[in-house]
Amino acid sequence: MLVAGNWKSNKSFNEAKEFANALTSMPPLPDGVEMMIAPPAPYLAALGSTPWAFRLGAQNVSATGPGAHTGEFTADMLQGCGVHDVIVGHSERREGYGDGDEVVAEKVNRVLEAGLRVVFCCGESLQDRQSDVHFDKVLRQMESAILHLPAEVMDRVVVAYEPIWAIGTGLTATAAQAQEMHAAIRGWLREAHDEDIAGAVPILYGGSCKPSNADELFACQDVDGGLIGGASLDSVMFREIVDAAGRAHAAQVEATSAA
Ligand code: PGA
Repeated sequence: MLVAGNWKSNKSFNEAKEFANALTSMPPLPDGVEMMIAPPAPYLAALGSTPWAFRLGAQNVSATGPGAHTGEFTADMLQGCGVHDVIVGHSERREGYGDGDEVVAEKVNRVLEAGLRVVFCCGESLQDRQSDVHFDKVLRQMESAILHLPAEVMDRVVVAYEPIWAIGTGLTATAAQAQEMHAAIRGWLREAHDEDIAGAVPILYGGSCKPSNADELFACQDVDGGLIGGASLDSVMFREIVDAAGRAHAAQVEATSAA
């Protein structure tokens, strides 16, 4: 299970350091759970110089390599700053900052070429869901960014299903809605690659995931953790979600050993 926090454009630098210290001084992570924090980009180099209890994530990366690209930062630069994971294709970037499918696919390539892990976001709008095209929409996003990837890099791919209508709205997909989309994504991975890869790629749920609904979401067979926005800004709440992932993992282990 992976619980990843996306802070978006929130927290001062001092607040970020306090949060990192608070999270690191909490009890060790539950078995089978990884924790990631993606702070604002200006904090990455400073945070990346200390080994924390969590993986360090970036919220964005350039689609280009080095050169005359004012304001951009490359995947290699992130790697050099101690970043482990990079979020690519978040709907806020797709909708507000021109990250169309081609740009997203290029960013995925750059992250993987730099040896980092990508957290690839996909998800449908409310209108897509109401028009019953949500599966097509999500699987088309998968196709444009993930289909061309060779099997050797797939162990550094994480998929985050984030229904746009649930992000920051307080609305959450029901466990059944999350599970059916995650199962569709897993099925797509099986077709595009194979059973082993489909089973190994973590598929996170994102969209108003919080301590009160994390247990139910994480108990779904194909939900392997969460990408958390608002609830990742509070270290205690975030840790509660991490603990929920620990309970889900323990339940899976028990079910597997009983089978
Ligand atoms: P939210 O954001 O948890 O605030 O809905 C999720 C995300 O955008 O990753």
